[in-house]
Amino acid sequence: MAEHLFLKACRREPVERTPMWMMRQAGRYMHEYRAIRKKVSFLELCKTPELACEVTMQPINEFGFDAAILFCDILVPLESMGLQVDFTPAPVLPNPVRDRAGVMALKIPDPEQEMPYVFEAIRKIRTALDNRVPLIGFAGAPFTMATYAVEGGGSKSYEKTKSLLFSDPETGHELLDRLARVTAVYLEAQVAAGAQCVQLFDSWAGILSPGDFSEFALRHANSAIEMLKDSATYKESPVPVIYFANGCAPYLQRLRESKADVLGVDWKIDLSTAWDALGDKYALQGNLDPTCLFMPEDALRARVKEVLDGAGNRPGHIFNLGHGILPSTDRERVRFLVNTVKELSAR
Ligand code: CP3
Repeated sequence: MAEHLFLKACRREPVERTPMWMMRQAGRYMHEYRAIRKKVSFLELCKTPELACEVTMQPINEFGFDAAILFCDILVPLESMGLQVDFTPAPVLPNPVRDRAGVMALKIPDPEQEMPYVFEAIRKIRTALDNRVPLIGFAGAPFTMATYAVEGGGSKSYEKTKSLLFSDPETGHELLDRLARVTAVYLEAQVAAGAQCVQLFDSWAGILSPGDFSEFALRHANSAIEMLKDSATYKESPVPVIYFANGCAPYLQRLRESKADVLGVDWKIDLSTAWDALGDKYALQGNLDPTCLFMPEDALRARVKEVLDGAGNRPGHIFNLGHGILPSTDRERVRFLVNTVKELSAR
């Protein structure tokens, strides 16, 4: 069977057209998703494999993306480490980690024991996909997970997280190290269950100075990736690893040390500039501003062309948004986007 376009592009092999998927492609912009969310809470949805499978498949069946992504949330493993997580829908953690005792109390769970529904969902999705497109598994990167664990939710200034890391780096690194270990075993179990690629989301890495990015974000994301790549499961089924550090433009030189195979790029930098700085070791994923989906079709088409031109003829481009799709997006624009990428990128 011919290899999937998406997996070929991850390995920087030539493809007949650019593969594409969208971060947060399953979600509230789809009425099919909202209909299910009327009946169950977000966490119930994540923890019910039949439903998680159904919403993962919705955008695949409707728009024809080149990859599916497991429906779950990056914060789910924090529960199994001993932290309560609620969604309102914004995440709230009522008992955040603020000191050394809190960090030392965090457990390293056995993923199969503590989150069996994730792996059951992966197996169901693989069956439902029937090899049409590959399935991406994912986890939050240690730094981004730490922001939620310490702040107790989203934040503007991230002052509690940065205060902990800057004033007590030993405790900070202990926290990040525990999160890296959980990330690695969690991703390993996803690969064992059938994930054909994994993405690490470092959504808030962009709030750090370049030196702090290396010390607190990249170092621990790399340690999670190295632990995964050293595992028996990975050696038996090596899958591409994507590292998406949102807001990565100031850190490109440092990102050349990433242990990932594919780097996600947001829209604040031209793809060509990013690629020149990163060298040809990595495939790149990105980088349309999700707000472009609110443009009229002609203007959106021009923006798609701009992204594709930025990638030029280099092998290893995966078209994506620079961050997640916004819930108020018109689904017909999504259809137009998928068709336009497929049309304009045909070699
Ligand atoms: O991409 C996909 O389609 C797969 C599913 C997925 C979700 N969250 C579903 C979700 C993935 C990959 C995530 C990752 C995630 N979760 C990240 C990293 C990606 C990014 O956007 O930077 C982050 C930071 C989170 C944490 C999180 N979960 C937030 C901030 C929110 C609130 C979002 C909002 O707009 O209110 C969530 C909830 C969440 N995760 C929803 C979905 C579909 C909305 C929940 C609902 O249906 O009410």
